[in-house]
Amino acid sequence: MVEISTSILSVKEGSEAETFLKLEAGKTDYFHIDVMDGKFVEKNTYQKMLENASYIKRISNLPLDVHLMVEDIKTAVDDFLAVEPNIITFHLEACKTKDEVYKFINYIKENNCKVGISVKPDTKIEEIYEFLPYIHMCLIMTVEPGKGGQTLLTDMLEKINTVKKYIQEQNLDLDIEADGGINLKTAPDVKKAGANILVAGTAIIMANDFKIIIDELKN
Ligand code: DX5
Ligand code: ZN
Repeated sequence: MVEISTSILSVKEGSEAETFLKLEAGKTDYFHIDVMDGKFVEKNTYQKMLENASYIKRISNLPLDVHLMVEDIKTAVDDFLAVEPNIITFHLEACKTKDEVYKFINYIKENNCKVGISVKPDTKIEEIYEFLPYIHMCLIMTVEPGKGGQTLLTDMLEKINTVKKYIQEQNLDLDIEADGGINLKTAPDVKKAGANILVAGTAIIMANDFKIIIDELKN
């Protein structure tokens, strides 16, 4: 059974509280917090996501799945550790050296938080292999990071399948999360490819019954 991590990026301004409560009632497994700094990607959602994440933390026990699309990973990790997320995922492409990747992996874990690494569509999946034994999740972007409501890039399915096979061959134990353009049409292929956590934003937020859409994405 896959898990659903609902991206709150597209939640309508002013209806956050009501939407978060409805998502909890609709049984999302995680809240996916899309943190953008206006440098790694064009949009800047940093403050808004920090406020939303701390608000969710106060009203819900559901785990926070923080997706950092930022250049300054250390500052963002420090800022978002404050909302005690279940996991913090940073982008491989925002790290200048391999040592830096290991430094952030250890720093996040030393702060009692699970850690994930995300790769953009153009990044070769092999580049993440050496880090897989030390992280809890790899996040495969199925759209170019930066905004919601895009169309899933179908050649990312092959990438999900490749990392799934590698994880199995290496007897590793970590989650594969797919993120971007996931809806009732694309979810079956994403699951078949091997992702066990699906991020969906638009597909869920625009539905009028969150429970139905979340159930359907899961099954
Ligand atoms: C894009 C974000 C995704 C996005 C998902 O940069 O990382 O989480 O918000 O939204 P949808 O499901 O609308 O593609
Ligand atoms: Zn995301």
